[in-house]
Amino acid sequence: MELKLLLTVLLIQSATVPADYIRPPPRKAFHLPWHSKPSSYPQQVHISLAGDQHMRVTWITDDNSAPSIVEYGTSPGQYDSVAEGENTSYSYMFYNSGKIHHTVIGPLEHDSVYYYRCGQQGPEFQLRTPPAQLPITFAVAGDLGQTGWTKSTLDHIDQCKYNVHLLPGDLAYADYIQRHWDSFGRLVQPLASARPWMVTQGNHEVESIPLLKDGFVSYNSRWKMPFEESGSNSNLFYSFEVAGVHIIMLGSYADYDEYSEQYRWLKEDLSKVDRKRTPWLLVLFHVPWYNSNTAHQGEGADMMAAMEPLLNAASVDLVLAGHVHAYERSKRVYNGRVDSCGSVHITIGDGGNKEGLAHKYINPQPIWSEFREASFGHGELKIVNSTHAFWSWHRNDDDEPVKSDDIWITSLISSGCVDQKRNELRNKLMTP
Ligand SMILES: [Fe+2]
Repeated sequence: MELKLLLTVLLIQSATVPADYIRPPPRKAFHLPWHSKPSSYPQQVHISLAGDQHMRVTWITDDNSAPSIVEYGTSPGQYDSVAEGENTSYSYMFYNSGKIHHTVIGPLEHDSVYYYRCGQQGPEFQLRTPPAQLPITFAVAGDLGQTGWTKSTLDHIDQCKYNVHLLPGDLAYADYIQRHWDSFGRLVQPLASARPWMVTQGNHEVESIPLLKDGFVSYNSRWKMPFEESGSNSNLFYSFEVAGVHIIMLGSYADYDEYSEQYRWLKEDLSKVDRKRTPWLLVLFHVPWYNSNTAHQGEGADMMAAMEPLLNAASVDLVLAGHVHAYERSKRVYNGRVDSCGSVHITIGDGGNKEGLAHKYINPQPIWSEFREASFGHGELKIVNSTHAFWSWHRNDDDEPVKSDDIWITSLISSGCVDQKRNELRNKLMTP
């Protein structure tokens, strides 16, 4: 009892949050009951954007002969279209994965509900495609894991009207235990089968074992993203466009120096961004560049030194990162300082994983840091039109989503920042 009291006092003392809110401790792993199904039954269904008006449907079967076929249509139970995809599987020490199916469907109408079935059996799923134009809403939560807090975060996201989920790394926290990838897939299926989940990798996806296993074997097999569609040669970095937004997913755990393939690809991708078609430019990666928490302090410095000049020359509006298990929002920044034509950086590694929260901050709060709080939660980004977006962060106050931070963000193209001088700099930097 005394220990509980002492912990509570310590929590309150180290808080930067309102005095009436006591930050919660980590919760235990969340276990979904798993009822045995036929081996060809689709499980762990999730979808992701796969090029213009196309969606990749991913699922797993225990049965190796199950077909990689998706039947779909706009009315329940009536499938007037069918697509056949590819499949893969992997071994990891003593674990053998099921058959992992990836099937691209489309072309699909914008902003429409589709009903679909995987492998010609099992339940019917439904998905909604994103709109063709703004407005669009993104749900954002990183470092999810699979605890009771993860479930709480997912339940809150489920209550929000959103089009696409963005995840800046650290998904399952399987940490080499491969069946935890399966339980994570089952946990997120209700949401991830209904809206596209666009993810990038975190440190918990690496799972390499020297001399025995390369990195990202499980992640790349299970969470295939549209890297081929965006001219990348690696699932660890790619881009996509949706409803007037160009989104770049970078890899904190892929090489990023100026001689690297990721750097070369990023320059090429940025040179293709057309702000008339996509007035908003977003970037996601795992390890934050602007972080005033003591956790993971300075870890993003090398990547920042290599790549921030490119992002700045291209006038990136918003950068979303995870890794630090807390929430922080910066002012517009560049090169470590407040800059009216820089990017807003948000750290949102607070999905609810088993490692708990990062409570300790550097004091005094740096000038560039606008808001910071160590709580679990999720973000919502509603891009209203070519000039304005509304960002809000909702902490899991006990089990209720409580809006704790919000701000209107104006796009850089409407702020006089994408001028001739910057265009010249951009052209110079992006020239191969
Ligand atoms: Fe991480």
